Amino acid sequence: MKSSTKENWREVYADLSRYQNLYLYQQQLVEIIGQQFADLRGKHILEVGCGKGNEIVQLAKRGAACVGLDFSESAMELMQQRLAKESLTMPLARGDARRLPFQAGTFDLVYSQGVLEHFTQPGEVLQEQCRVLREGAIIVVELPNKWTLYTIYKKILMAANKWLPGWETQYSPRELKSLLEQNGFRILDCVGWDFLVLKILRKLRKKLGWRDKAESAFVRTVREKLQRNPILLNFFVSITVVGKKI
Ligand SMILES: C[S@@+](CC[C@H](N)C(=O)[O-])C[C@H]1O[C@@H](n2cnc3c(N)ncnc32)[C@H](O)[C@@H]1O
Repeated sequence: MKSSTKENWREVYADLSRYQNLYLYQQQLVEIIGQQFADLRGKHILEVGCGKGNEIVQLAKRGAACVGLDFSESAMELMQQRLAKESLTMPLARGDARRLPFQAGTFDLVYSQGVLEHFTQPGEVLQEQCRVLREGAIIVVELPNKWTLYTIYKKILMAANKWLPGWETQYSPRELKSLLEQNGFRILDCVGWDFLVLKILRKLRKKLGWRDKAESAFVRTVREKLQRNPILLNFFVSITVVGKKI
């Protein structure tokens, strides 16, 4: 069946060693969210499908007023454990992304990481996010890119009924941008993350014990330009689209 159910996600979280490999901490996503405000402190931020809180915990540490929502009981338990470990408090809501339990115009920013691709009707999920954002507020969507080895790997496992989250589709940067535009947003930015080759080289450096050098301003500027190049965008492992509620 074409769906990603609570039971699928319970299985994902029941085997955390596999989960760790599947959903890594996305530092770049935290950076992109941070760049949307002059000061993150006090900003009302919702993560839809917060899982075990890889990114939202970092945003809360920077002073944002965060809320985590997930429909999985196991995710909520992991989230509670993490907050206790980090001595943080944060409201958590157990609920469905298709019917967010918040009033219209509540948040300054809503984001999701690795969530939207699990819905057969992503439009209703985006419209809910649009509803709970205040006028002119920001949406950030991060998901795996379409033309990657990950897509092939996933398709094979899905065909064998062995894909842990159950069902998943994929978007190119163009498709994702157009989906947001159709559901109440104007596109502000589209950024690609991680080339497989660079990932392997970084792992190799780590294994060899070489220290990472601090990135110079010049390298950073070039990198940020390449990450937004309309052609290269199609080949990064993940894509992040930033939109503004119209
Ligand atoms: C890739 S994980 C999120 C990873 C997260 N950024 C983290 O730090 O762990 C996707 C999450 O979306 C949640 N999810 C999937 N479908 C959902 C739905 N209909 N409503 C709410 N949450 C949902 C899953 O339970 C899962 O925790």
